[in-house]
Amino acid sequence: MGRRTTIPLLGLALCASLIVGCDSDSGPGASATSKTVAASTSVAPPPAPGALPRITILATGGTIAGKATAGSGVGYTAGQASVQDLIAAVPGLEKIATLQAESIANIGSQDMSEEIWLTLARRINQLFADNATDGVVITHGTDTIEETAFFLDNVVATDKPVVLVGAMRPANALSADGPANLRAAVTVAAAPAARGRGALVVLNETIHGARDVTKTHTSSIQTFVSPNTGPEGYVAGDSVRFVKNPLSHQRPRFPLPEGSSLPRVDIVYSHAGMRPDQVRDAVDHGAKGIVLAGVGDGNTAKAVLDALAKANDDRVVVRSTRVGAGEVVRNAEVNDDELGFVASADLNPAKSRILLQLLLTVNITDPLRVQQEFTAR
Ligand code: SIN
Repeated sequence: MGRRTTIPLLGLALCASLIVGCDSDSGPGASATSKTVAASTSVAPPPAPGALPRITILATGGTIAGKATAGSGVGYTAGQASVQDLIAAVPGLEKIATLQAESIANIGSQDMSEEIWLTLARRINQLFADNATDGVVITHGTDTIEETAFFLDNVVATDKPVVLVGAMRPANALSADGPANLRAAVTVAAAPAARGRGALVVLNETIHGARDVTKTHTSSIQTFVSPNTGPEGYVAGDSVRFVKNPLSHQRPRFPLPEGSSLPRVDIVYSHAGMRPDQVRDAVDHGAKGIVLAGVGDGNTAKAVLDALAKANDDRVVVRSTRVGAGEVVRNAEVNDDELGFVASADLNPAKSRILLQLLLTVNITDPLRVQQEFTAR
């Protein structure tokens, strides 16, 4: 993990703020048997009139901080530029917000880990608890940005904006998209209308909600979509326009788990001619939960369903889908009631894995309770 450095870029703009705190006592762990998992979201007043919002940029690496290989049209290494380099590439950023910046890591997001997620979440909670910032922007590789966004969305209890941003082209590429995306992300984080919307992902002038967003193209700058719901909003220059109601984000958050890892949950990927070996491998390696990236409506070969039903005796099985849009419907193609499975609703396999990991941290393992959480969140 990268060394963390704090770089105050400009003086802090003062504003009164009331942080109720990230309420770990009333989170999902408070009552594993209660119907809803309750944790209050802290509500803080906006910056004083006339003061620039204070935005903290937390850098983690990715293509936005990548450098192209000399002489190569496509080759580059993610996570090379410093957070100061990223900020310096956006003229006028200091007119949008009073900035401070820290490096949390400098990696390609294929190497993003639970340890870095937890470090990031603790740092964000601390910044908000200390009233040290009015919003956070996280620079991140696009490959797993939706996973980090979803994790943070579930554990950071605040109404202040948390905005993740990446780029599809490295920092020194022709037509690098990083500077414009970073400007857009800071603009969104500084916007009063961005409050109370959970974690957001901003790329290519579009704002997505953490639950909905997914990457759909390997190289195009228009890669992120929210297939089931559409985007949260748009940003054009200094204009930020939301098209969704923020009320949908007012749901409980999980208490941040102690330590540096989460319970092991494996994803098994279904395909024609699939054998049950991936399921056995997950069981043999101690997975506490298994997510099926199923075909169609979260289905898979009979032999795999049998193996999952057996594995289900002492771990949780969630049926998700490898299809990029739509819902996995409970009891539609697979008898979840009989087999004790959970249907992932609109969560893709990677996000199903994260939600199941968080539920396991608070000892929610009963399939019907797990189902409630998948359906409610
Ligand atoms: C990464 O996810 O770190 C590499 C790809 C990207 O940022 O677009």
